[in-house]
Amino acid sequence: GKVAVLMGGRSSEREVSLMSGQGVLDALRAQGVDAHAFDPAEQELGALKAQGFARCFIALHGRFGEDGTVQGALELLGIPYTGSGVMASSMAMDKIMTKRIWRFEGLPTPDWRMVASPEATTAALAALGAPMIVKPARDGSSMGLTKVTDASQCAAAYALAAKYDDEVLCEQFIAGEETTCAVLGEGAAAAALPVIRIVAPDGNYDYQNKYFTDVTQYHCPSGLPADEEARIQQIVEKAFRTLGCRGWGRADVMIRQSDRQPFLLEINTSPGMTSHSLVPMAARARGMSYEQLCLTILASASL
Ligand code: DAL
Ligand code: MG
Repeated sequence: GKVAVLMGGRSSEREVSLMSGQGVLDALRAQGVDAHAFDPAEQELGALKAQGFARCFIALHGRFGEDGTVQGALELLGIPYTGSGVMASSMAMDKIMTKRIWRFEGLPTPDWRMVASPEATTAALAALGAPMIVKPARDGSSMGLTKVTDASQCAAAYALAAKYDDEVLCEQFIAGEETTCAVLGEGAAAAALPVIRIVAPDGNYDYQNKYFTDVTQYHCPSGLPADEEARIQQIVEKAFRTLGCRGWGRADVMIRQSDRQPFLLEINTSPGMTSHSLVPMAARARGMSYEQLCLTILASASL
């Protein structure tokens, strides 16, 4: 039947989603799938039913797309969709909720404070130490993110993050190596793909360097010692299952330089699928083409 590729939407990651969605759309069509673009910012989701769509590939990022809201609407409409269900999507979108659950389950994640004022941000810096990351709790692609090294930056960092979300997260910065690890599957069968190690200029893997420059280096195979790679895959699989994620996802993990300990930052339940994106890169390292990856994700669509 007809497949809707949900793309665009109204989060701050709209532009990224349009790139992801176009990639998925082209790949599915090339494989003979009757796929069509559908932008929930332009049409009500209810129209999916009238237009006869049998399944949805969710290529939306951020709020009103990756956060359980669209998933809830599709549940009501009875249209199977790719990726995590309502609760896992909603929890994974909220970095603070995610960290609470991981901490409770004994999974490593950097220390944090939830703050609601510039003063609380300054207090968080005193408690957590510098450098500290200040970011909106429910956003992606490094939107609204500041690396604070001095108390004088706290007010501006808070104000920037608060533009994107009224929940602001202060997180201890882990100095070391940046990695990311994709997962495909569900429940006990959820399995990590090879780890990608990211080397950005001056350690700045920000919005520009994620999507628009060619200065970031990606290593897959990661070049990490085999035991470190296996440890990251193991905690990422557990982190994915603990939140109840399904289908696919990608967790961002820092390795602390001093003791090589890995720390989970977050899980993206609808990760980027642009030409610069990381899940396709990890799949390729496994011998899975972009087209095969899109078909695999689509085949896992469920209610
Ligand atoms: N939030 C972006 C799309 C990602 O994690 O890939
Ligand atoms: Mg993210």
